[in-house]
Amino acid sequence: MTKRVVLAYSGGLDTSVAVRWMIEEWGVEVVCVMVNVGQDTDGGESFESIRQRAMAAGALECVIVDARDEMAEEFCSYAIRANARYEGKYPLVSSLSRPVIVRHLVDQARKFNAHAVAHGCTGKGNDQVRFEVGTHALAPDLEVLAPARLWGMTRADSVDYASKWDIPISATKEKIYSIDENLWGRAIECGDIEDPWAAPPEEPYTLTRVTNTEPVELTISFVDGLPTAVDNVAMSLADVIATLNHRAGATGFGRLDMVENRRVGIKSREVYECPAALAIIAAHADLEDLTLERDVHHEKARLEFRWSELVYDGMWFSPLKEALDAFFLETQRCVTGDVRLRFEAPGLMRIVGRRSPVALYDHGLATYEASDTFRHVDAEGFVRLWGLGIATWAARQGAKNATPRKP
Ligand code: ARG
Repeated sequence: MTKRVVLAYSGGLDTSVAVRWMIEEWGVEVVCVMVNVGQDTDGGESFESIRQRAMAAGALECVIVDARDEMAEEFCSYAIRANARYEGKYPLVSSLSRPVIVRHLVDQARKFNAHAVAHGCTGKGNDQVRFEVGTHALAPDLEVLAPARLWGMTRADSVDYASKWDIPISATKEKIYSIDENLWGRAIECGDIEDPWAAPPEEPYTLTRVTNTEPVELTISFVDGLPTAVDNVAMSLADVIATLNHRAGATGFGRLDMVENRRVGIKSREVYECPAALAIIAAHADLEDLTLERDVHHEKARLEFRWSELVYDGMWFSPLKEALDAFFLETQRCVTGDVRLRFEAPGLMRIVGRRSPVALYDHGLATYEASDTFRHVDAEGFVRLWGLGIATWAARQGAKNATPRKP
């Protein structure tokens, strides 16, 4: 029986060529799976025309899955609870979509009785790691194939290959940027961006072009750590994300320019635009400032860094990541309330207010006014004991400590 491969299909040049190449070189049947994670398919092309391209390339079938709500509810929600930003900056846009795609690849591989799944990544990026480690976590018996890592074709060669096999592609031999997008944002690499000294060009941005120069103020409401409404209008998480991408993005908010450490040992300069992700995480973290007990808050911050690293490194389906999720979930029972954000073009955002029915902020304790309820006399003994060890130590040092020392 001819072996079957389920390919993560994007509709782009590489995965279209991969369909035909695997058929020719390996004699397999190829089932394409196109997962809609909220990417604006090249120039707004319809999924139907992408499906036709897969079929023209020789696919046995092309399955289209709408995973937008799934991505929001089962992936972005975890990232929000974790305030996830790799290296303190990047909100894991591509890193979050790969495990969504992997889930569907494995599902379809089972349905179609395939022996392997395949992806279109080259050898230099993180996405190959996420596809392969993720697939092996869900289905250790499936092989993972990476034709583009093997074929040794340049972009121009691939364009020639596509035209030789009558695969209808709009790609040209020169492509400036490599862009990956989903509802959590857009990742942009290549072209001038490869020079870390060069300011990023305006051209590849789509979500963060300034179309509104008026200040925008809006309120995000959270229940148990997740956004449930914008300006008191209740909506699904996917809709909160879309609303913020639109409203915050229009003021130019959401750009990142960073040099990051890839899992495969390469430092790379990348730019991102992720207005909703950055606004939601900032608001969520701010509400935690108001509602989390101090030790929980500090411990959580340490674990957030680790969580982001794991997810970036392709460990979405891993026991440590799941254990951290359980911890984060436990912390979120009091993260309920509203956060007020103010956006000013171009690209400035400030959090200007927050409130919660379960805030740990106690005005009576905090105030310097007459309504003060803090017991000032308690402070004296507390501070003396707090510093007692240091005072004892200092006394034993004698005069040594009294004279200022040169560094
Ligand atoms: N550097 C980012 C990451 O590793 C973005 C990768 C974008 N992927 C792409 N195929 N262009 O998550």
